[in-house]
Amino acid sequence: MTTEIEWWEYDDAGEMGEALAGDIQFIIESAIDARGGAVVALPGGRTPGPIYAKLSKAKLDWKRVTIVPTDDRIVPMGDPMSNVTGIAKIFLPLGARVIPLVSDKAPDYKAAGRAADARLLDFHWPLDLCVLGMGADGHTASIFPGPDLTEALTGPKERRALGVMPEPLPPEAPVARVTLSLAAIVAARALMIAITGQEKRDVLERAITEGAGSTLPIGRVLAEAELPVDVHWSV
Ligand code: 6PG
Repeated sequence: MTTEIEWWEYDDAGEMGEALAGDIQFIIESAIDARGGAVVALPGGRTPGPIYAKLSKAKLDWKRVTIVPTDDRIVPMGDPMSNVTGIAKIFLPLGARVIPLVSDKAPDYKAAGRAADARLLDFHWPLDLCVLGMGADGHTASIFPGPDLTEALTGPKERRALGVMPEPLPPEAPVARVTLSLAAIVAARALMIAITGQEKRDVLERAITEGAGSTLPIGRVLAEAELPVDVHWSV
């Protein structure tokens, strides 16, 4: 099976943000019409800033929108590394429900992953949309090389979230994570990737070429996608 990938190219991050926000809005509206609510997974990191700025201006019935980060760093709420803190700051005031993947109570990262998995059972599934970011090392969500990689990539299909310890720890946020599993990501009704810069583009193209045998997590995820995937890329 070859995943169908459609590339969307933009001259700058602002233009990409506007286009992607429009696409996300449309998917949310369609899910609300079809199912009475939308459940979407959104990435952390720096790239989505302009997307979220635009999306937050969209006229949507935000009370019917549930947002979960694709992954998070195990740090307290309010920490600059916390993805859910950034997402909540933008979307909670609009009335959206924002579900954290991490909680203070878990004794270790594995337990944090199990708790997140249990929390996600409360929402309609599959995700209506999963937007992925990607690191220049080919990680996506928090699916990184390390002791938990196999579980993240090939764990049981019903496992939505798990705790992971990246190895080596990524310098921008050197902590354990909770991530959506490959199974949860590829089950989404719509899957999009948002990246910027030539370096990431080269990595993603390599991952796509390598397919199911890729050593890069993003390559493995894309190889398992059953629906066409939209890749949004800006200079
Ligand atoms: C995280 C992310 C991660 C992110 C990439 C890209 O918390 O680490 O969700 O998967 O999307 O690391 O990050 P940038 O957009 O900052 O390059």
